[in-house]
Amino acid sequence: MITKEPYIVISDVSYRYSDAKHYALEELNFTIYKGEFVVILGEHLAGKSTFCQILNGVIPNFKGGEMKGSVIVGGLNTQEVSVAEMAQKVGMVLQDPAAQLFTTKVINEVAFGPENLCLDVDEILERVRWALQVVGLAGFEERSPTSLSGGQQQRLAIAAALAMRPEVLVLDEATSQLDPIGTIEVFSLVQELNKKYNMTIVIATHKSEEAAQFADRILILHQHRLIAQGVPQEIYQNTKLLEQVNIPSPQVSRLATYLEEHSLRLPEFPITIEQARKGIEQLVRRSENCEP
Ligand SMILES: Nc1ncnc2c1ncn2[C@@H]1O[C@H](COP(=O)(O)OP(=O)(O)OP(=O)(O)O)[C@@H](O)[C@H]1O
Ligand SMILES: [Mg+2]
Repeated sequence: MITKEPYIVISDVSYRYSDAKHYALEELNFTIYKGEFVVILGEHLAGKSTFCQILNGVIPNFKGGEMKGSVIVGGLNTQEVSVAEMAQKVGMVLQDPAAQLFTTKVINEVAFGPENLCLDVDEILERVRWALQVVGLAGFEERSPTSLSGGQQQRLAIAAALAMRPEVLVLDEATSQLDPIGTIEVFSLVQELNKKYNMTIVIATHKSEEAAQFADRILILHQHRLIAQGVPQEIYQNTKLLEQVNIPSPQVSRLATYLEEHSLRLPEFPITIEQARKGIEQLVRRSENCEP
């Protein structure tokens, strides 16, 4: 449920990596509301990963460089609190599932963050139990993370983030190395976290189909700037803009454009398979009714 409560407020942010000549993000202004599911699209080197890292304070607190403006997350200014403190507000899941798992047992992986918060043992065990259950890995406690599938490894990485009880989950290309089944596993889990726990979700991805299906709002980064934002329907209908910034439309939207070029207009421009199916059914029904 999207509320009107601004949760992440990005004001006039420009950021340059310490060894870089150019800004990786320029004059960014954006507000994300509590419970929102936001997807960031943009071509290679547009600034998506940099955007993700300003949300948990890794930029600039850990990576240095020059940052202008401010990022407020849940009332905390990322530049005024430590990366460890921000980790309790913002959980982060990265592209390579194996690279972010570094212990030999699933249970240790999930316990690692809470242990570093010096919580008592019962609280740590309760968090681990809850996080593994939420991601569907209860019963996997003693398994080695390397024995899991890619989708399971990403669910484990999400469990490790959840054990810190964050209010925001940020996924940076977290499904780019997964097959279609692993991708759906992760997106479905994230959708459940969003709906059931009202967790705010920010996902950087190249996958237009998933963005269309899951996002409340899509942001488009292009050459380090935020150039468009809107609900998926609005964004994907703007085919000119998408072409300009090299972002593919969902396949069903391309099909609709093709049909339109051949004088077959669907009642509503589809961005998901379900919408396309309904539209085509209506079209068929209409043509049957017109038959002599
Ligand atoms: N560690 C770094 N040091 C210097 N410059 C960097 C660093 N990381 C990224 N950049 C630069 O910042 C800009 C934005 O890069 P970023 O990695 O955020 O883009 P991206 O949209 O995530 O790209 P990709 O789709 O390849 O993941 C690029 O110009 C890139 O060269
Ligand atoms: Mg990236």
